[in-house]
Amino acid sequence: MTASKPRALLALNWKMNKTPSEAGAWAKSLQEEMPPTDVELAILAPAVALPLVAAELYGSGAAFGAQDVSAHASGAYTGEISAAMLADVGATYVIVGHSERREYHGETDEVVAAKARAALTAGLRPIVCVGERLPEREAGRHVTYTLDQLRASLTGVSFTDPTTLVIAYEPVWAIGTGRTATSADAEEMAAAIRGVLAELYPDAAGSVRVLYGGSVKPDNVREIMDGPNVNGALVGGASLQLGSVLGMLAALA
Ligand code: 13P
Repeated sequence: MTASKPRALLALNWKMNKTPSEAGAWAKSLQEEMPPTDVELAILAPAVALPLVAAELYGSGAAFGAQDVSAHASGAYTGEISAAMLADVGATYVIVGHSERREYHGETDEVVAAKARAALTAGLRPIVCVGERLPEREAGRHVTYTLDQLRASLTGVSFTDPTTLVIAYEPVWAIGTGRTATSADAEEMAAAIRGVLAELYPDAAGSVRVLYGGSVKPDNVREIMDGPNVNGALVGGASLQLGSVLGMLAALA
């Protein structure tokens, strides 16, 4: 199923950090310092910063995108940003169903699936996030819980090009805590996720990228991506400093 490993993706989730000016300056520095790499780099910036990030990143080879998207195509949804708007500024990726949106904004699996469908319809690549909390992990129910969440979050999601779908396994207990899953934990879940993908998309499962997220940094990124089913990382805290992003790229070189 994983005969040829898909191209690795290092996705940077800045969360609610960096003003547009700060984001633009960061992107400019990256553009100047971006090393040759086989790894695909994607910056998931606050939506308001995307036009500046787009302008400054130009020519670097790095992709960019957003951290959320509306489930609706257009219309009377005050405050929402549509997938078509993100595509229009040149975004490639969008995170959907991050645990922080599930927890603080009440996003259900149904909403997450609708957002993933909206993203794909507009030509964006959704990064669909799933992962258990500490109680499920401690009860040994982490795999069942995460796979149920995955199936529900992919309801009605279809695509022609399997590289357009990305799944991120982010155990909630490892986000921003410094407590990283082991590479064995990440591989266990990534393999289980790929099993579900094989049920849902028999011809495509090997090409969908499965990322791990949760306290990834230069010191552990290589090890965490070691497993045959782990195709990249979704990085929060360690994505804010350019030096640490360059450190992760160097670790993966
Ligand atoms: P940290 O890397 O800060 O743990 O955040 C992970 C995350 O939530 C990425 O989406």
